[in-house]
Amino acid sequence: MKRRHQAMAALLVGALAGCGGDSGDAPEPAADFGETLFQDARLSDSTFNRFSCATCHVTTPEAPAGRIDSGPSLYNVAARPHWWGGYETHLLDAVNFCYLNFMRGVTKLAPEEPRSRALYEYLSRISPDAQAPAVPFTVVKDIEDVPRGDTARGEAVYRAACQNCHGATHTGEGRLTELASVLPEVTREYDRLFPGIPHAHVVIEKVRHGAFFGVGGSMPPYSREALSDADLGALLGYLGL
Ligand code: HEC
Ligand code: HEC
Repeated sequence: MKRRHQAMAALLVGALAGCGGDSGDAPEPAADFGETLFQDARLSDSTFNRFSCATCHVTTPEAPAGRIDSGPSLYNVAARPHWWGGYETHLLDAVNFCYLNFMRGVTKLAPEEPRSRALYEYLSRISPDAQAPAVPFTVVKDIEDVPRGDTARGEAVYRAACQNCHGATHTGEGRLTELASVLPEVTREYDRLFPGIPHAHVVIEKVRHGAFFGVGGSMPPYSREALSDADLGALLGYLGL
């Protein structure tokens, strides 16, 4: 697969240089190559990674029904004034934050690389407006319990937000990676690992902090805008926590 990327990169360089292939086919436009990379976990140089950009980001103005993502839609992303709630002021840095922390990338995507340029061309293509507002991003720093909600709603939240990575509850069937714990069974370990702390508290912390604040791993954090406390409470009710 590495070879495939190299071949595509070579094709792209050919395209930038303005020379077509031997076959006479039109060279692949950079934005199309970027879209392919966006949807391919093999963009990452880690063989342990199973996530592509598309695992956590939609690219339509509104999220399709049945999808709740940790990451915001990237529609109009190139037209935003800054990213990650103002922490990032260069688009490639915002992308690399995801690439290094969630996709286990070892080396940052460098600005001059064909892959970075192609991704940029794709992100520009899905950004039709000249200017777009920044996406609000509120990190829930202090973990507090949330009221439990309706379990039918909780099941819908599980399917929309967690199932793609974690697979079916109780079995993990269909999960994206073996590394993603089986829910809620993983909490059986919590009395030993986190004695005295309510299981739900550990799960809320994982969802709100992802891999950060010393939690570790490669799961993304859910901001308040990405997942409301009401939906989180419904989810906990569904998981019996
Ligand atoms: C495992 C999930 C995950 C993966 C994979 C991922 N991201 Fe993200 N991304 C996030 C989260 C979470 C945020 C921060 C949420 C926020 O800013 O609201 C984010 C934020 C961003 C932002 C900033 C958005 C903004 O307006 O603030 C960009 C740009 C971005 N990601 C691009 C990418 C690209 C390109 C890839 C693939 C190379 C990628 N992401 C892979 C989860 C992910
Ligand atoms: C993009 C993929 C992805 C999504 C989406 C995701 N997770 Fe995870 N989650 C993981 C991975 C990978 C791990 C194991 C590595 C780690 O701890 O980060 C994990 C670990 C966990 C753990 C176990 C932490 C421990 O004690 O070891 C819990 C609890 C959890 N996730 C809950 C959730 C819930 C609830 C949702 C939905 C709101 C969710 N996750 C969405 C990938 C994901």
